[in-house]
Amino acid sequence: MLRATMAVLVLLGLSAAPAGAQQPPTASQVTRGAYLVTSIAACGNCHTPKGPNGADLPGQHLAGGLEIAAPNLFTARVPNITQDRATGIGAWTDAQIALAIREGRRPDGSLIGPPMPFEVYRGISDADLAAMVAYLRTVPAVANRVTKSEFHIPLPPSYGPPVRGVAGPANTPEARGAYLAGPLGHCTECHTPMGANGQRDWTRTGAGGAPIGGPRGPVVPRNITPHPEAGIGGWSDGQIIRAITQGISADGRRLFPPMGYGYYARISPADLRDMVAWLRSLPPQP
Ligand code: HEC
Ligand code: HEC
Repeated sequence: MLRATMAVLVLLGLSAAPAGAQQPPTASQVTRGAYLVTSIAACGNCHTPKGPNGADLPGQHLAGGLEIAAPNLFTARVPNITQDRATGIGAWTDAQIALAIREGRRPDGSLIGPPMPFEVYRGISDADLAAMVAYLRTVPAVANRVTKSEFHIPLPPSYGPPVRGVAGPANTPEARGAYLAGPLGHCTECHTPMGANGQRDWTRTGAGGAPIGGPRGPVVPRNITPHPEAGIGGWSDGQIIRAITQGISADGRRLFPPMGYGYYARISPADLRDMVAWLRSLPPQP
């Protein structure tokens, strides 16, 4: 009888483990999580230390240490999110890691600050969040203690009410593309301007964002709406995909970081097609 019950539970994709216990991840969850973290979500763009040429340091995948400073606002030091128990997140439970990614809350209850893009990460689906956690569990431990960030602005008490039950996108190219470019890839976060109230003006999604400081001076996230002159309305699908995955603009100019071209080069052709469909569906912004 017990064996029959177990078989039914397995068939349903459920487990007989007591509530709260960690579920062993499935191979397909790890594969999906690896794909998300190392391509569209580009977590390593912030969380993996870089060499002088801007490439990921070998053997340091997600080991943290990068400093991201915004004058008068913060000096963020990107933490180690490898499985090292002492200096990474190896001692955290799956639920604690999930809460940190989607709601910006650490196990000790403190809030994680910018520039990790929590406004959009709140929309990551339950399935994709579980896949990311499953993959992070497989990341080799690297011992690297990172100093705490300093914030000169008060952080809010939270990024919003508790998030529960986020379904994946509707099954259309535009909806899938919007999910990839928003909750998973935070393209929208960089490429959308701030409104008068200091919040992002989502009525102008893709119109171009606030300048981002860099070693060679500030770079401005471009207008990526289908406006024929101000945006990318005149570009071919191939030109759009080349800009995203190779960092080459339609006129042949090499694009600057911090957009994570090297990570986006791993986005699947189907996902790239969906993102192009979404970009073409945006209202053109002058
Ligand atoms: C734009 C840069 C950026 C991106 C992209 C980013 N993070 Fe972060 N992340 C940070 C910073 C900065 C902090 C720490 C902020 C602070 O000190 O309060 C952080 C904190 C964390 C923490 C908490 C670790 C701790 O010890 O407190 C986890 C877990 C985490 N990130 C996972 C991820 C994952 C997974 C992704 C991809 C889905 C991701 N991050 C994408 C910048 C980023
Ligand atoms: C961390 C911020 C950031 C993120 C995230 C980001 N971008 Fe960008 N993007 C930029 C910046 C800055 C530029 C301009 C670089 C330059 O001018 O050298 C740019 C350039 C572009 C261009 C080329 C525009 C032109 O006129 O040449 C396209 C297309 C684009 N981004 C689309 C995307 C898409 C799609 C995503 C998500 C998969 C994305 N971006 C994610 C910051 C970002």
